[in-house]
Amino acid sequence: MIRAIVSFFVFVVDVIYGNRSYARFYVLETIARVPYFSYLSVLHLYETLGSWRKADWLKVHFAQTWNELHHLLIMESLGGDRHWLDRFIAQHIAVMYYWAIVPLYMLFPEYAYYLMELIESHAYHTYDEYLKAHEAQLKAQSAPQVAIAFYRDGDLYMFEEVQTTGDREFRRPKVDNLYDVFVNIRDDEWEHVKTMEALQKPEVQPTFHSPHTVFVAAKALSSEGEV
Ligand SMILES: [Fe+2]
Ligand SMILES: [Fe+2]
Repeated sequence: MIRAIVSFFVFVVDVIYGNRSYARFYVLETIARVPYFSYLSVLHLYETLGSWRKADWLKVHFAQTWNELHHLLIMESLGGDRHWLDRFIAQHIAVMYYWAIVPLYMLFPEYAYYLMELIESHAYHTYDEYLKAHEAQLKAQSAPQVAIAFYRDGDLYMFEEVQTTGDREFRRPKVDNLYDVFVNIRDDEWEHVKTMEALQKPEVQPTFHSPHTVFVAAKALSSEGEV
């Protein structure tokens, strides 16, 4: 059922946007970050009620919204939001989507994560196909400043916070041209898929921690071993 809903939605967006890639990516990025807002709202409500403390889940979902925000800013810098109708469609779907995911997450959190896993997986394959089809053209264009700041020159904490690396070093990707930017966005989407997948597993949920928490703990353990 969830798979059918996602496929239908993807089909509609693909038919409407066809080869207007940046507008399509703008719409997808506007909508794709909304479930993370819903998760955060529900988790904050639980915290307010004092019944469920999941600080690291909040941290990771906020980092995911921050990551998707930067995908969105990149699409805006490429002109994806230029037309009023595209902004109207994206923002109205986003509001409806937010309210659909809130009750779903409250009642069936695993389904809400599964739905997002499918959407993130679709995003990964969309960017992967786009990279294969437009490699030369993308390599000839420079990277937007917002992407350079997010992936290389700015404060990288939030970028690291979506990377499921375990005890390995965080990704330090190239941002030399627009092709690198789309590679980085695509790879971010795969990180989101892995996180959504992990959060559906009952054995993972009790010990789920943010990438920095895991990384710092692993480093502390290895330095203890060296002493
Ligand atoms: Fe994204
Ligand atoms: Fe994503």
